[in-house]
Amino acid sequence: MTRGTGAGRVRVKTAKGRTAQSVRWLERHLNDPYVRLAKQQGWRSRAAFKLIELDEKFALVRKARHVVDLGAAPGGWTQVVRKLAPKAQIVGIDLLPVDPIEGVTLFQMDFMDDDAPAKLTDALGGAPDLILSDMAANTVGHAQTDHLRTMGLVEAAAWFAVETLETGGAFVAKVFAGGTDKDLLVLLKKNFTTVKHAKPPASRKGSSEWYVVAQGFKGRSA
Ligand SMILES: C[S@@+](CC[C@H](N)C(=O)[O-])C[C@H]1O[C@@H](n2cnc3c(N)ncnc32)[C@H](O)[C@@H]1O
Repeated sequence: MTRGTGAGRVRVKTAKGRTAQSVRWLERHLNDPYVRLAKQQGWRSRAAFKLIELDEKFALVRKARHVVDLGAAPGGWTQVVRKLAPKAQIVGIDLLPVDPIEGVTLFQMDFMDDDAPAKLTDALGGAPDLILSDMAANTVGHAQTDHLRTMGLVEAAAWFAVETLETGGAFVAKVFAGGTDKDLLVLLKKNFTTVKHAKPPASRKGSSEWYVVAQGFKGRSA
C-alpha cells in the first residue's frame, strides 16, 4: 500500500514481505517524474524518454528507414521510433514478450541465438540504417559480473551492426560503468565516423548506465 506525504512524495506504507531494497525501488519508481510522464503520454516505459533525448541530441531516428530494436520489451523505444519515423520498417527482439505495435515485427527470442541476426534482417526487408540496443542482462548484484554480461550483449550488437548496417547508418547501445570497453571502442572507431558517449537526462544519475552513439558507418570495406 502507498500513501502521499505532505510534500507530495509517495511513501510505501506496507513494507511487509518486501525487502528494504524492493521498498526503496518501489518508492523511487512511484516518485519518478519520468514514470508519471510516461504514463500520461502513453509510453510503455520511462526508457522512451532516453531515446527521445538521444534523438534530440544526435538526430538519429527521424531520418531512419530500416530500424532494429534489440532488447525491445516492453516496447517504449519501439513506440518512439514508430512515432518519429512513421514510414520506417521496424523489427524488435526481446527474450520477453512485447505487446503488438502496429506495423512492427517483434520476435520473442534470444538475440544471442545463432539464427537471430538473419531473422531480423530478413524481416526488415533491407539493410538497417539504425540499430538500437537497450539490452541489459539480468543483474546478479555483483558489479563486475553484471558489467561483463551486459558488455557481451553490447559486443554482439556492435558486430551485428558492422556486419549489416547500410553505409552512413548509426548504432546506439547501452553500456555500463567505465563506458565502452577498449576493444569495442576500437571496433566502433574503425567503422564509424563519430563515436560519442552520452548520458541522457532521463537516465538516472545514480545508475552506471551510459549510451554509446556511433554515427556515419563507413561501409563493409572499412
Ligand atoms: C532496459 S530493457 C529495454 C527497455 C526498452 N528499450 C523500452 O524502452 O521499453 C532491456 C531488455 O533487454 C532484454 N534482453 C536482455 N538480454 C537479451 C537477449 N539476449 N536477447 C534479447 N533481449 C534481451 C531484456 O529482456 C529487457 O527486456
